[in-house]
Amino acid sequence: MRGKVTAVVGTKWGDEGKGKIIDFLAQRADVVARATGGSNAGHRVVINGRAYPLHLLPSGVFNSKAKIIIGNGVLVDPVILYKEIKALEDDGFKVMNRLYISEKAQVVLPYHPILDAAEEKMRTHKIGTTKRGIGPAAQDKYARWGISMGDFLEQKTSTLIQNACNEKMKMGVPRAATQEDMVIACELQEKEYVEAVEYLKPCICDTISLLHDYLDSGENILIEGAQATLLDIDVGTRPYVTSSNPIAAGMCVGIALGPTYVSEIIGVTKAYESRVGEGPFPTEEFGEDGKRIREWGHEYGTTTGRPRRCGWQDLVALRYACRVNGLTGLAVNHLDTIGKFKKIKVCIGYRNQETGKTVFNFNANTKFLEKMEPIYEEFDGDFGDISHVSSVADLPESAWWYLQYIANYTGVPIRYIGVGPSREDLIECDLQPMKE
Ligand code: IMP
Repeated sequence: MRGKVTAVVGTKWGDEGKGKIIDFLAQRADVVARATGGSNAGHRVVINGRAYPLHLLPSGVFNSKAKIIIGNGVLVDPVILYKEIKALEDDGFKVMNRLYISEKAQVVLPYHPILDAAEEKMRTHKIGTTKRGIGPAAQDKYARWGISMGDFLEQKTSTLIQNACNEKMKMGVPRAATQEDMVIACELQEKEYVEAVEYLKPCICDTISLLHDYLDSGENILIEGAQATLLDIDVGTRPYVTSSNPIAAGMCVGIALGPTYVSEIIGVTKAYESRVGEGPFPTEEFGEDGKRIREWGHEYGTTTGRPRRCGWQDLVALRYACRVNGLTGLAVNHLDTIGKFKKIKVCIGYRNQETGKTVFNFNANTKFLEKMEPIYEEFDGDFGDISHVSSVADLPESAWWYLQYIANYTGVPIRYIGVGPSREDLIECDLQPMKE
């Protein structure tokens, strides 16, 4: 019998704590696959009190028995991946013997971060990218002149980098200074790239056949999302988005798996919202409440260290994420953090500040969102210390009401609840929406 496929997706602007949910689910998976994004992603997994920041390796790597796939949809910076693997191997986690990197995965080259920074500088409306070269690498992919990991098996790394850089400059790079920086970056990083690629070469293969063979032989697959729904290039808050499709459908593309093979899609949300980079954020809190969320929830970027913008939970946006991903379950993280407030706000609709009209459907259009002010429902907080709680029945009644409201509003059951930062601080449950 074919194995089961579970996908985990971020519901808003990333950093919802997917790593923690994936780390938990990976314990039941035979294969963990990363399908989208690149080293712009940052997952922080805490094991035995020690934090491991990951950018390219799936967080599921901590299940030592799972095979790890980096799919065709991932933009791979070989140097970052190499360093990440080395750090884990040096700490006693075996990775190389169970890692498979798609030969089709596009490579992030030394000049991509240079172009990322140059493009951002020239933009009138800044996106606030992570400057990891993701946008330019994606542009090269779709312009069909980038290089793939499989190319390293055919040609010398240094030749590939030089040729790609020359080709790119021929196609047009706006400023001479940028061209110079690109050439310098390629020269400076050549050695690092060669070393990284040599190390990674044994892992580069046809992951499509591999994954489907595993599935056919009954193995369970966990697809690990990167970034999140509202950062999606098609359905997110464009232009303040990333250059890929982090939604569930994009994850299927990113490992070449038909959507009918996926049986569960879990959407991860925090009990509040955060966003890094620019772009609309209707429930953003600029005052004391925003500061409290940032401090209590430790909301600083894993990849860039930037303080995150913080605000109240937006259920209008969450329901949109449920719809566009076809979510079968929700994971609500940071219940402990939000429970520190005496009163908790939740956005249940928007009011158009120009017309006064109320709206209950999310629209990712930036101009639309800028006009909207949130309509809030208020809940009792003060949940106390809930980090030890292991079942919904043992949560304080006020926490239960809050969660039940989320399930009812979205029509999607809550399957996981994060009650603290550690691996163990997670409740598995089946909190179904109540019918009217
Ligand atoms: P890029 O993906 O580096 O091009 O950045 C585009 C936008 O996506 C910026 O607003 C980034 O801050 C945001 N972004 C990209 N990756 C992540 C992530 O993993 N978490 C949160 N935001 C992200």
